[in-house]
Amino acid sequence: MRLNSDKFTMLFLWLFIFLILPQFLKGEVGNSSPKPNIIFILADDLGFNDVGFHGSAQIPTPNIDALAYSGIILNRYYVTPICTPSRSALMTGKYPIHTGMQHAVLYAAEPRGLSLKEKILPQYLNDLGYTSHIAGKWHLGHWKLKYTPLFRGFSSHVGFWSGHHDYNDHTAVENDEWGLDMRNGTEVAYDLHGRYTTDVITDHAVKVIANHNTTSGPLFLYVAHAACHSSNPYNPLPVPDNEVMKLGHIPHYKRRKFAAMVTKMDESVGLIVDQLRKSNMLENSIIIFSSDNGGPAQGFNLNFASNYPLKGVKNTLWEGGVRAAGLIWSPLLKSRQRVSTQTIHISDWLPTLLEAAGGAAALSNLSKGIDGQSIWQALVHDEPSPRLKVIHNIDDIWGSAGLSVGDWKLVKGTNYYGKWDGWYGPAGERDPHLYDWQQIPKSRSGKALNGLKMLPSQAEQQRLRAAATVKCLGQSPQGSSCKATAFSAPCLFNIHDDPCEQFNLAEQYPKVLKALMEELKYQNSTAVPPANKPGDRRASPKYWNYTWTNFGDYDLLNNKPVLGDLKVVL
Ligand SMILES: *[C@@H]1O[C@H](CO)[C@@H](O)[C@H](O)[C@H]1NC(C)=O
Ligand SMILES: *[C@@H]1O[C@H](CO)[C@@H](O)[C@H](O)[C@H]1NC(C)=O
Ligand SMILES: *[C@@H]1O[C@H](CO)[C@@H](O)[C@H](O)[C@H]1NC(C)=O
Ligand SMILES: *[C@@H]1O[C@H](CO)[C@@H](O)[C@H](O)[C@H]1NC(C)=O
Ligand SMILES: *[C@@H]1O[C@H](CO)[C@@H](O)[C@H](O)[C@H]1NC(C)=O
Repeated sequence: MRLNSDKFTMLFLWLFIFLILPQFLKGEVGNSSPKPNIIFILADDLGFNDVGFHGSAQIPTPNIDALAYSGIILNRYYVTPICTPSRSALMTGKYPIHTGMQHAVLYAAEPRGLSLKEKILPQYLNDLGYTSHIAGKWHLGHWKLKYTPLFRGFSSHVGFWSGHHDYNDHTAVENDEWGLDMRNGTEVAYDLHGRYTTDVITDHAVKVIANHNTTSGPLFLYVAHAACHSSNPYNPLPVPDNEVMKLGHIPHYKRRKFAAMVTKMDESVGLIVDQLRKSNMLENSIIIFSSDNGGPAQGFNLNFASNYPLKGVKNTLWEGGVRAAGLIWSPLLKSRQRVSTQTIHISDWLPTLLEAAGGAAALSNLSKGIDGQSIWQALVHDEPSPRLKVIHNIDDIWGSAGLSVGDWKLVKGTNYYGKWDGWYGPAGERDPHLYDWQQIPKSRSGKALNGLKMLPSQAEQQRLRAAATVKCLGQSPQGSSCKATAFSAPCLFNIHDDPCEQFNLAEQYPKVLKALMEELKYQNSTAVPPANKPGDRRASPKYWNYTWTNFGDYDLLNNKPVLGDLKVVL
């Protein structure tokens, strides 16, 4: 049979209209515009209420707020309750219960790291032509070099390997052991002594952007701040005095120091956005700003964050522990300048960013067992999030578990014997008149975004900020109606109506409770055991010129020479 050429043309035309054109319009194929640069800024221990865009006028964060108002404020954004589990979920796209990272953090002396079987975010992006760099905290294992960033897809790293350190001397105290933890690549960065960590991280980030040549491919930059995690017990909140002095309106001295650590980080965000502008990379970038977990409030972890009005703190399964301050900014987002209530989990970033970078086709390359779901289309076009459930965590060592399905949330058991199950201030001044609106367009981010005509009007900013402010239904000063101890009955909340988790509905909705308990049982059956290990005595910094190092790469027991001619004493 012979098709005449007219029919052929018609066939092509129909094919074009129905199959190819929609793809073009979605920007999935034939996209000649280069892949977007991706800048992921992860704050450490920042509380829900520690950014201006959530309604607190206490800590000025104009650079972060400018991004928030011109991008999308993620108001239903979940992370895990602490550092290592969140970072593992970000890097692998998996829940910590599926990588053995569900219990506590990784201690500097532990002989473990995020499994090398896991393909991680920079490796996926490098496959799509990206060059990846990290500035800041790793916290996914360093006992052998092969667990550290340069061996897992990153081309450079200036920062530290463990969970926290002093912002000036860069030493970390853990379990009475004390050692330097600051690296340039794999080398101990003795020369950076005395340089404020937030500045060191910012300088590296800015340098990476300035040196990046987009003709040879897009950039993935992971900026994992130390701020505003507390430091060592001898000086828990290190920050330059002149920064603290600018915040004289904050009465509580430790809260004021915490706030100054946050403003240093806000300044860093401004410098990064400004360098993207100078390098002509901003208009083709995706910027994500996220906290890694809820804030440690009122002295928890020697720190003074605020999750007001949410319940609980870092390392609890309450909203204050798992609902993070977050935003995404990009000109690629068609529906911007909005407050999103789309449910998002930190594990979603991996598939989401892969889709942003490589289209839906890139998702076919995902490893098996990914828990994250791509929310890229949902974000770009403001469509419902494909995510229905969130497993907040299951930790059988502490005896706590939490998950959400739709608006329902189950909390079973608690950490710290319920000691941190309340609501903590400070509220921050909530009167919108106290918030300094003039700072937004004057900030580095604000100016850069104004240059792209992306900063909304002040009236619009006010509307967004009001919409992003979480309010409780008649908060009861009595405290929790839920005693979620390991032995008591599980609690049930409707997070849409009761974001502050004041009203336990377990008795009113036994069927919902039963369904969520079934879901928990199922999810638990898929969990792998926690991978935690006791500290290894070889890790002690005293054997390594008082540094935390990749002790597992050396055979100390045979007394082989290590670190040049340094004598090893066991
Ligand atoms: C890290 O090392 C590289 C290569 O030696 C050097 O160019 C760079 O300046 C160093 N960075 C810092 C922050 O010291
Ligand atoms: C950027 O890379 C392209 C191609 O790899 C090269 O031709 C160009 O000279 C580079 N530009 C700079 C400023 O290094
Ligand atoms: C899948 O990954 C390979 C490398 O492992 C890469 O070359 C390829 O471009 C990826 N495919 C898509 C569609 O992203
Ligand atoms: C999960 O399963 C283990 C046994 O595999 C059990 O010991 C534990 O209690 C379960 N945890 C929860 C929260 O159901
Ligand atoms: C040991 O540490 C000191 C700084 O505390 C540094 O100056 C010296 O170079 C280090 N020695 C070795 C062998 O790394």
